[in-house]
Amino acid sequence: MLRELWSEVETYKERDPALRSRLDVIFSYPGFHALVFHRVANKLWRNRFFFWGRFVSHIGRMLTGIEIHPGATIGKGLFIDHGMGVVIGETAEVGNNVTLYQGVTLGGTSLNKGKRHPTIADGVIVGSGAKILGPFIVGENARVAANAVVLKEVPPGVTVVGIPGRIAKGKADNDQAFEAYGTAADVKDPVDRRLEALLDEVERLNARVLLLEAELRDLRNGDDSSSSDTKVLKFGG
Ligand SMILES: CC(C)(COP(=O)(O)OP(=O)(O)OC[C@H]1O[C@@H](n2cnc3c(N)ncnc32)[C@H](O)[C@@H]1OP(=O)(O)O)[C@@H](O)C(=O)NCCC(=O)NCCS
Repeated sequence: MLRELWSEVETYKERDPALRSRLDVIFSYPGFHALVFHRVANKLWRNRFFFWGRFVSHIGRMLTGIEIHPGATIGKGLFIDHGMGVVIGETAEVGNNVTLYQGVTLGGTSLNKGKRHPTIADGVIVGSGAKILGPFIVGENARVAANAVVLKEVPPGVTVVGIPGRIAKGKADNDQAFEAYGTAADVKDPVDRRLEALLDEVERLNARVLLLEAELRDLRNGDDSSSSDTKVLKFGG
């Protein structure tokens, strides 16, 4: 179990751009803590210690703000970022390498005792505040936008936005690496973009200064009889 948990720590290292060290995950990441509580609660639940499973899950909820029903099935590499307000229902199934941001609900829409929560396939990213409600599948590597409300099956690789959820884009490249926040890989950091623009400007000004210096040199070496006014005029032109 410890080895498994260590690989969960690695998951955070790979997928959280704000992470500084693995120790941060172990001591300060509620998503990781919720997962540890869930692993214990789920074991108790599966061994029919329903009261204790529920109790451990409740302690986890009190400490992290993340509520995972002890009966829920959670795969490897679940990354819950920030976490507060995440709710995962009893019959929800979460595949491997899934990412959930704060305020996500994997909920039901009926009081039916059977399967009533969604199945989230491998590699899905669910944006903050999104609600996925009902017993259907969200396909591999799909992305659910922040605050979307998804009420029906989602094909693999698509992006779903809005209320009710609709497909915003065609198939994403399923081989693509994880992108924090589900954004397209070609979206650059705004600070990087400003810096690049600034460097371009400096380069342009540098070239202009070189040109002006060359013109000035020509003027100095040229017609000595010209008046300084003429030189200034020529320089300005
Ligand atoms: C959905 C998401 C993954 C799309 O990223 P993307 O592939 O770069 O897509 P784009 O930004 O090109 O948007 C595609 C379309 O969806 C719309 N859209 C994107 N996010 C949306 C949202 N949350 N709600 C409604 N529409 C949204 C865009 O307006 C665009 O619409 P258009 O095609 O009519 O112009 C991203 O916007 C998102 O919501 N990520 C979750 C981030 C998050 O929760 N972060 C929390 C960090 S604490």
